[in-house]
Amino acid sequence: MGYKDLLTLKDLSAKEILDLVSLAGKIKKNPMKYSNKLKGKTLLMIFAKPSLRTHLSFDVGMNELGGHAIFYDLKDSTLGKKESVKDFSKVIDGYADIIMARLYGQEDLESIAKYSEVPVINGLTDDYHPCQILGDLLTMKEKFNNLKKIKVCYVGDSNNNVTHSLIIACAKLGMNLVISGPKKKKFMPNNEIVSGFKFKFEPDVKKAVKNADVIYTDTWMSYQVSKSEKKERERILKKYQVNSAIMNISKKAKFMHCLPAHRGDEVTDEVIDSKRSIVYEQAENRQWSEMAVLLKLMKK
Ligand code: NVA
Repeated sequence: MGYKDLLTLKDLSAKEILDLVSLAGKIKKNPMKYSNKLKGKTLLMIFAKPSLRTHLSFDVGMNELGGHAIFYDLKDSTLGKKESVKDFSKVIDGYADIIMARLYGQEDLESIAKYSEVPVINGLTDDYHPCQILGDLLTMKEKFNNLKKIKVCYVGDSNNNVTHSLIIACAKLGMNLVISGPKKKKFMPNNEIVSGFKFKFEPDVKKAVKNADVIYTDTWMSYQVSKSEKKERERILKKYQVNSAIMNISKKAKFMHCLPAHRGDEVTDEVIDSKRSIVYEQAENRQWSEMAVLLKLMKK
């Protein structure tokens, strides 16, 4: 195996990504087979931002593998105040067998990984959300079987963690991905982050979603975005709202969202509550794919 940590999908080959998706599918079919694999092991979950899915899916996943998870809120932490990242990471190393962290800066996650002997998993940073996309690949595989035959269209604020990880995964796997959002640097994928990874960009959302098998969106207000930007973002991104009119341009398309959704902003109730929405399947698949990541990184 070529990777110690899962910090971004950039570090994995296409085969390594597909292996994780396939293992996640196997665990989902027969969880009992894996129920003792991480017996006696401890996962430390570090959070600097709020979480529902990442917190619960890792906690439940670790338990279902026979291990134990500890929730550690950075609000109550010595990190950056009383202790250096180096001391913090080396101390954790002595207690935990594996670490998952949800942070703001990718560089902070990379520092923890640098000083830790144990594997470190990215549970979301401002730049990447690899665990989300691994779960999403499982969801798409379940729905469409052949990932290379589908067209995925991501609509909305495209300068965020979910879009970046989606671009990296789709480029590595040779999938057809179209990104649609305002043609402004602020809302477009960050070039430094996705440089070298091919994707199509179509600012006209009606053209972008034509023949799409998946229409995917995410919040316009990611955790790190200041509340003061809300009004301006709503005004600029409004025409990228995924509503029935957009979904009807490609009648076969399923609707995806990493959640939390801001109903009435990036997606309407009608779409997220429709039969075409697979958002809760995505949420469930986070657990199975994260269990696969835990097993791979722990070499089980
Ligand atoms: N782009 C979103 C994803 C939330 C899971 C955010 O960073 O807030």
